[in-house]
Formats: sequence, structure tokens, C-alpha cells
Amino acid sequence: MLSVVVLISGSGSNLLALLEAAENPLYPVRVLAVGSDNPALGLEHAEKYGVPTFVVEADRFETREEFANVLMANIHFFDPDLVVLAGFMKMLPPSFVEAFRSKLINLHPSLLPLFPGAHAVRDALAAGANHTGSTIHLVDAGMDSGPIISQRELQIPEAVLEVELTEMIKVLERRHLVDVIREISEGTINMEGLI
Ligand code: GAR
Repeated sequence: MLSVVVLISGSGSNLLALLEAAENPLYPVRVLAVGSDNPALGLEHAEKYGVPTFVVEADRFETREEFANVLMANIHFFDPDLVVLAGFMKMLPPSFVEAFRSKLINLHPSLLPLFPGAHAVRDALAAGANHTGSTIHLVDAGMDSGPIISQRELQIPEAVLEVELTEMIKVLERRHLVDVIREISEGTINMEGLI
């Protein structure tokens, strides 16, 4: 059984997919806690499933390092096997990345290295891409730049709106995240081998 802490910043639909999957006793993953950098809507999913939550607001700290240290202390309290960034929109400093080396993954709505950053869907449309998708990667100190664990692709329909494509990608991401975390738990994906 793989234990995870999930960090979110927004609606938490990917978190919800993981919580739903973990309801099945055959799914080898347990969500220990959910953290956020703001009182995010998605925390309600955790509360509904009886999973503890914590909020560490970045603007209460003078530096990114101080913010990350408090976030880290909260995560260490639960001592997870894996930390999952599922729509967590704050950059984390090298000290945080190093503390969770080979145990920290991020979900991103593009086929990295294409379109990193906070507006991946908008950027893919603006570039006239005809394919995009979902990437799950190990986190390093860069922006969406760590070793890629897995990608899933989709075709961008003509004249699709950003809001529609965002939802299409999220549908893909939910299945992708649930599957990849299962594979990490089962040892099919070896994270040490990726570093
Ligand atoms: C997801 O699409 C995730 O890939 C993206 O935020 C969304 C969160 O949705 N993350 C990034 O863009 C990170 N660079 P959710 O809150 O509904 O799960």
C-alpha cells in the first residue's frame, strides 16, 4: 500500500479522482492528507472523504523557503511514501525538492517539455498545436522540468475553446493520475531509476 499526501491550489478534480479510486480496497493507494497554499475549494473533497487537510498560505511568509519549510513540516508529520502535486500552483524551492527527492511528482496539462507554466492550455492553443495531453513527472528545482514518468496524448479539436480543452485534458489527467500512482505502488514504475 502506497501512502500519499496530495497538494492542491484549486478545484481538486484530480484529487477527487484519486480519493474515489482509493475507496476501492483493491486500489493499492491511501491518501493520508491533502494540503493547499490557500483555502481551496478542492479541500472539501478531502473533508467529504474524512481525509485530514492543512493550509499553508504563502503570503504569510517573507520568503519562499520559510513557506516551504512549514509546508514540509506538515507533510513530514504524515510521513507519506509519495507527495503528489495535483494542480498545486506554487513553485517550490530546491530545499523542498531535495527533501522529497524521488518521492515528489507533478501533474501538468501539456506534453512537456512543450508549454510549461501556469497557462499550458492557453499556450498550446495560441501556438496552433494540434496535439496536447497530460504529463506526470518527477519534480526538480526547475519549472515543470523534471524527468518525465508518463504522458498521454489527445488531439485538439478544431475551433475548441480554452475552457473546453481544459476540461478534455482534465478528463484524461484523472485516469492518468490514478493509473500512474497505481503503477508506482505496484513497482511497475521505478522512480529511483528516473533520477
Ligand atoms: C490540472 O489540469 C493540472 O494539470 C494543472 O492544474 C489543474 C488542476 O485541476 N496543473 C498545472 O497547470 C501545473 N503547472 P484540478 O484542481 O481540477 O485537479
